[in-house]
Amino acid sequence: MERLLQAMRAVAEPTRLRILNLVAHSELTVSDLVGLLGQSQPRLSRHLKLLVEGGVLARYQEGTWARYRLAGSAADEAGPAAFAGAVLDLLPLDDAVLSRDLERLDRLRRKRDAEAAAYFKRNAEQWDRIRALHVDESALTECLNQVTAGWPLGRLLDIGTGTGKLLEFFGPRATSAVGIDLSADMLRVARAAIERDGLDHCQVRQADMYQIPCGDGDFDTAVLHMVLHYSDDPLQALTEAARALSDDGRIVIVDFARHNLAELRAEHAHRWPGFKDEQIWEWLAGAGFVDTNVTRLEGGALTVCVWTARKAQAEKEAVA
Ligand SMILES: C[S@@+](CC[C@H](N)C(=O)[O-])C[C@H]1O[C@@H](n2cnc3c(N)ncnc32)[C@H](O)[C@@H]1O
Repeated sequence: MERLLQAMRAVAEPTRLRILNLVAHSELTVSDLVGLLGQSQPRLSRHLKLLVEGGVLARYQEGTWARYRLAGSAADEAGPAAFAGAVLDLLPLDDAVLSRDLERLDRLRRKRDAEAAAYFKRNAEQWDRIRALHVDESALTECLNQVTAGWPLGRLLDIGTGTGKLLEFFGPRATSAVGIDLSADMLRVARAAIERDGLDHCQVRQADMYQIPCGDGDFDTAVLHMVLHYSDDPLQALTEAARALSDDGRIVIVDFARHNLAELRAEHAHRWPGFKDEQIWEWLAGAGFVDTNVTRLEGGALTVCVWTARKAQAEKEAVA
């Protein structure tokens, strides 16, 4: 009962209700809220602290910024998050203050979208140059659909999500999805894309693939799409992915087969000139994966490989 009372006290104040309404529509930082609500940072920080302590909002650190989003998930049926959901359903949509807040939020989102688009434009040329070296996107997405056809994706983890392309592609089939990436610029593009597509069950976080901010077994499917060739330590990256996966969880690695294009290393900072299957099998086995498979997509200077595997069940298969 105390948890519920704390959640009720947390939202029972006009500014905090306005914050709840805004954060329900978009992840926000304190400085976003300062602009949206026209109140001082210390004041808003105090309100946010109460909402987090009440279990209504969750706080994530991203570089020097703290981001806020609704706590919990659809699966949380009885907690403060569910209470917050009920409160949101009761908010009067025609309330002038709440409507003005949402109008201001809309302007903020358009500004963010423009910033993300500008970053994307600055880098698109470079990405297009690499894409032109291998099979087109539709062949790859078709292959990904085929390879994962029989799997429920469940809770999806997109490691090195970049602009969130895979979240957009797989998100609709996943029960929930988290994309992690080191680059705040990439995440800005990804965040704009998942908001634009209304993928409320998807989120992105700034994080390192060697230290994924999650508990053991929190995910059912992990994807690394064009990420492993940047890794200093693929075995460690795959071991961390295995930790994040539940037993029987699946991993999909999309990357280049071994190639001779030295410019990818020199101009695009690739650490690895693609991979041989044997190398991937060795790392996957070392990280605790079994049932490995590969599909090749040829048709360009670069062959793209889709490697898949399943996480072995802790005691039974690891020893076998
Ligand atoms: C070529 S992009 C691929 C992005 C996305 N998976 C896609 O295919 O569109 C590689 C991404 O890996 C990210 N990355 C590189 N090292 C990382 C690390 N240690 N942890 C998390 N992300 C990393 C980069 O920031 C970049 O966004």
